[in-house]
Amino acid sequence: MNEANKTALVTGANSGVGFEAAAQLAEDGWGKVILACRSIEKAEAAKAQLVERTGRDPFGVLAVDTSEVASAHAACDELRDQGERIDFLLLNAGASAKDARFNSDGVEITYASTLIGHHVMAMRALGDGVLSPHARIVIAGSEGARGNMPGMSVHDLNQIAADHSAGDLVAAIEALSRLELPVQSKFVNMNEYVTAKLLVAWWTAALARRLPAGITVNAVSPGAVLSTSFARDANAMMRFVMIPMMKIFGPLLGMSGSIDKAARRYLDVASFGDEETGRFYATAHRKKLTGPMGIQTWPEYFHDRRGQEASFDAMVRLTGVGFADTVGKRASV
Ligand SMILES: NC(=O)c1ccc[n+]([C@@H]2O[C@H](COP(=O)([O-])OP(=O)(O)OC[C@H]3O[C@@H](n4cnc5c(N)ncnc54)[C@H](OP(=O)(O)O)[C@@H]3O)[C@@H](O)[C@H]2O)c1
Repeated sequence: MNEANKTALVTGANSGVGFEAAAQLAEDGWGKVILACRSIEKAEAAKAQLVERTGRDPFGVLAVDTSEVASAHAACDELRDQGERIDFLLLNAGASAKDARFNSDGVEITYASTLIGHHVMAMRALGDGVLSPHARIVIAGSEGARGNMPGMSVHDLNQIAADHSAGDLVAAIEALSRLELPVQSKFVNMNEYVTAKLLVAWWTAALARRLPAGITVNAVSPGAVLSTSFARDANAMMRFVMIPMMKIFGPLLGMSGSIDKAARRYLDVASFGDEETGRFYATAHRKKLTGPMGIQTWPEYFHDRRGQEASFDAMVRLTGVGFADTVGKRASV
């Protein structure tokens, strides 16, 4: 199908990589690009800037707070009622709050904004028939989930489950997302951020096993980009040490890249074939945060099938929206 007949939806389209991805989709000739932002006002403001930049207006607007289940449902109701047919669902939004904040169901905002609403949107889009038969779902990951960045630790979820929930990994992930674990007694937002991104990679692999043939889902890190608003709530180590250093040396050392290349990663993965699904794409070089992309094969925990299924099941429990509730009732699945 020609891009002119295709529709994309981008969450977090008013800022940073999401804004850039929406611009590139318009510049590539996509017929419709739905800007899904925290409020209609933010989406309308982004639309005005994007029309100005691209000289085109394929843009639609949608309000969604990706940290709230009810808001994700409301957005999906609107998509269904408007008869949208989405070819590219780009689940890019994500926040990392400096201080612990929670959504209305008690889920910490990093986990909530990254996965809660996105899980509901993916499930509902599938169940409502809003996704086209060869739709691509891409969700934002991060190299931080590899666990080798200074100042950020990925929680050892299997150990946490063994210590605190008799080995029940789903219960451990639920407790983790509510900041109920002793290891979280001091809130370190970047630890929760990189752990949330591990849950993203796991959720992606589990969802891929459930999707009907033809529809794919992949996690994609845009790589490190310093020109977005993301680091506004980063910890002191990031803001005062890593980011200033990366601003100077990053481009030379492959530790930070341009926003156009970052957004292009999402679009590139969306153009891959039906067999490329359930993967986590990020910077191929283990010690770099930008440059050529590759499937992340390490650390070994990315392939932890039990973790993958537990991440998915935890999202089902936390949102009340399961695969069987939506897609499972369709005859083709
Ligand atoms: N920049 C990097 O170096 C980097 C590296 C790896 C991965 N990433 C990932 O890339 C994605 C985009 O980040 P960015 O760097 O472009 O940061 P950004 O400029 O801060 O953009 C984040 C976007 O997500 C939206 N968002 C956050 N929470 C939301 C919520 N609850 N409901 C609706 N929208 C919400 C923000 O909306 P508001 O403006 O309303 O807050 C904003 O539009 C994130 O998932 C991030 O984790 C970034």
